[in-house]
Amino acid sequence: MPGHTSEVFAAYPELSCSGEKLTVQTGGYWPNKDIFCAGKEETFEFIENVLDEVIELFPSQYIHIGGDEAFKEAWEECPLCQNRISEEGLKDEHELQSYFIKRIEKYLISKGKKMIGWDEILEGGLAPEATVMSWRGMQGGIEAAQQGHDVIITPTSHCYFDYYQADPEFEPEAIGGFTTLKKVYSFEPIPDVLSEEEAKHVLGAQGNIWTEWIATPDHAEYMSIPRMLALAEVVWTDPEKKSWRQFNKRLQQHFRYFDLIGVNYAKGSYAINFETEIDTSGYKLSLITEQYKKNIHYTIDGSEPDTNSMVYKHPISVDADMIIKAAIFEDGKLMEKVSTQEVKLHKGVGARINFDKEFTSPYNDGVNTKLLDGLKGSFYHRDGKWLGVKENSLEAIIDLGSSKKIDEISASFYQRYASWIFLPETITYYISNDGIDFIKLGRIGHNRSINDKEEIKHHFDIELLGGEKTRYIKLFIQGIGMCPEGHPGEGEKSWLFIDEIEIK
Ligand code: ACM
Ligand code: ZN
Repeated sequence: MPGHTSEVFAAYPELSCSGEKLTVQTGGYWPNKDIFCAGKEETFEFIENVLDEVIELFPSQYIHIGGDEAFKEAWEECPLCQNRISEEGLKDEHELQSYFIKRIEKYLISKGKKMIGWDEILEGGLAPEATVMSWRGMQGGIEAAQQGHDVIITPTSHCYFDYYQADPEFEPEAIGGFTTLKKVYSFEPIPDVLSEEEAKHVLGAQGNIWTEWIATPDHAEYMSIPRMLALAEVVWTDPEKKSWRQFNKRLQQHFRYFDLIGVNYAKGSYAINFETEIDTSGYKLSLITEQYKKNIHYTIDGSEPDTNSMVYKHPISVDADMIIKAAIFEDGKLMEKVSTQEVKLHKGVGARINFDKEFTSPYNDGVNTKLLDGLKGSFYHRDGKWLGVKENSLEAIIDLGSSKKIDEISASFYQRYASWIFLPETITYYISNDGIDFIKLGRIGHNRSINDKEEIKHHFDIELLGGEKTRYIKLFIQGIGMCPEGHPGEGEKSWLFIDEIEIK
């Protein structure tokens, strides 16, 4: 409550603003515009009756009332809701939600219970004693803890076990996302920005599984195990004692046990991830998999690997451009598919890049390295190679460390209409030898359509015909800012996805 309530209106249509009778939703439905009328006293009478029954059934201290994804359009048009806003001296519909939640909390407290709600209950002002479940990232949890409220951390990025855990091509259809076992294990549930005192408000973390795309208990097991084990270890283990290698080793024993008792667990991702180490001794490429002690076979000549191909033993020294292909085989059979990575040792590899803005987003680990690591992104935007930001525009300055002769600069961007990711309008390139006075080289546009529903990788190239020497390169990236007209996200912030900036 107050949203996600169509099942109530199937039986009690009079409790919504319009009074329209709805049916119980059976599939993933979006957006869920059904919402309790906050202007009618009957609404609260009904909810209090339901809570009375819930309280009788469940002896627990906490009751989770929801509070998420309450679309308030109905409230904007409802005379009773508007009347409530003016009578209670509320500023807007957000404050009406806050009024609603506070009223429910007061009722629960009068019954000796504590209320939990999703982070949306922060909007319009938090109820006095509410515990907040932070799901839309960490920010709601941070704000609530800073306000002295208890918090349960459960961001979609690490804690949603209805998300894909391996390559979607080989997995049962899921709602979306991409959260591997290793990613769950890497989770740090206590945000750094919290003081020691504030951090005490973090009660723990929670894994979530929603079943719009999950029809059987077997499938639910597959989605939650072993990611559930990883999250359990995250919350129960001293961060210093956490070790992915050790966890993965112990997990193999659990797998044998699950086999014996008939648990339908997932074996995890067979993808090979490519990680670089760039230092004075050169450029090294590591092949990483979350599979335990499995041979990775690979080639560097563009051919398809098989069980006769080289076995990966230690990081590979790279001194020329190459296409590396790698895969795991079990009993001679290719698992998932061959992972391919193009390596380009251009003049910017290992250089520093600084942006005019700080970002927080699930895509942005390694902001300062992933655009200049010689690794090109794939057509899968969650492959870890792309930098995703929700900004109108962005300025980046690259420091090559010393003055170098440059013939061409080429920055790659991505468009994926369905994921609200759009190519920027233009990139303007500048060069400088002191990092202060920049000379403009030119502004590059593109001729791709913003309404193209195909996935697009596009590079914005500029040639330096004079073969200029430069130490600093500046890019001004002008994004489209908002999803375009007619798009499902029309008027909301769109994503910019940036890949390798090749400096040739
Ligand atoms: C949620 O996933 N809507 C809490
Ligand atoms: Zn209403």
